[in-house]
Amino acid sequence: MERALKGKQAIVVGGSRGIGRAVVDALATAGAKVTFSWVRDEKAAQGVVKALEAKGASTLAHRADSTDPAQVKALFDAVGTPDIVVNVAGTARFGPLAAATDEDLEAQLALNTRGAFYVLREAARRVRDGGRIVQFSTGGTTAPTAGAGTYLATKAASEHLAFALAREVGARGVTVNVVSPGLTETDGLVMPRPAIDFMVGQTPLGRLGQPPDIAEAVLFLASEAGRWVTAHNLRVTGGL
Ligand SMILES: NC(=O)c1ccc[n+]([C@@H]2O[C@H](COP(=O)([O-])OP(=O)(O)OC[C@H]3O[C@@H](n4cnc5c(N)ncnc54)[C@H](OP(=O)(O)O)[C@@H]3O)[C@@H](O)[C@H]2O)c1
Repeated sequence: MERALKGKQAIVVGGSRGIGRAVVDALATAGAKVTFSWVRDEKAAQGVVKALEAKGASTLAHRADSTDPAQVKALFDAVGTPDIVVNVAGTARFGPLAAATDEDLEAQLALNTRGAFYVLREAARRVRDGGRIVQFSTGGTTAPTAGAGTYLATKAASEHLAFALAREVGARGVTVNVVSPGLTETDGLVMPRPAIDFMVGQTPLGRLGQPPDIAEAVLFLASEAGRWVTAHNLRVTGGL
């Protein structure tokens, strides 16, 4: 994959921390010019830019809240016509449905569902012919667990936006896929530790995922090697 993306322009939505940061690193190291968004953690965003600069890779950090369609549009305006769009940003609330609040549901709908709609709509309008679009979901939508109901509902909706879009832009040679991580060590992993340990114990590979485990799968889909994969939900879970 060395320099496999040379000359490509990429947008990574939610690239300052966690899996998104690893995706920015993987795409930029493969030669893409990456613009990534962040919202709260400017220091983390600047840290990504500096770390990649030190490796000779080119990245731009752009503040854009995915829950606001005007900010999503401005992010795309800053790039123009991307070859690759990866929507990583997501949020999770964990707890039994009986205890879930309206605010829990709303926060997840706002980013995981409406935010995905704003990003995928803009990607549909702007991505270059032959381009690549990747939407993040979770392995949980196909292996549901107690306590994840509101999260899974809002993520499953984003998968269907992506699958329909794959059928709308395929004639232009654009692929659209979903990447669904399993449990991955980031700030966004909000399940209680005993539940994490139990679930990791059930996996064939027997360990918690790390952000680069997921980013490599995105790199495959974004590169020429992934050209024949579309409308697919790629579970990158260690077998969960
Ligand atoms: N970690 C897991 O175990 C796991 C498992 C399955 C699926 N996933 C999914 O994988 C994706 C990445 O998860 P993660 O654990 O790496 O998340 P994370 O560590 O919480 O990082 C979230 C990223 O999204 C950005 N972000 C947050 N709110 C945003 C908004 N309103 N608009 C734009 N960007 C926003 C954050 O920016 P700031 O730094 O500025 O806040 C940060 O860069 C998510 O979609 C998540 O649902 C994660």
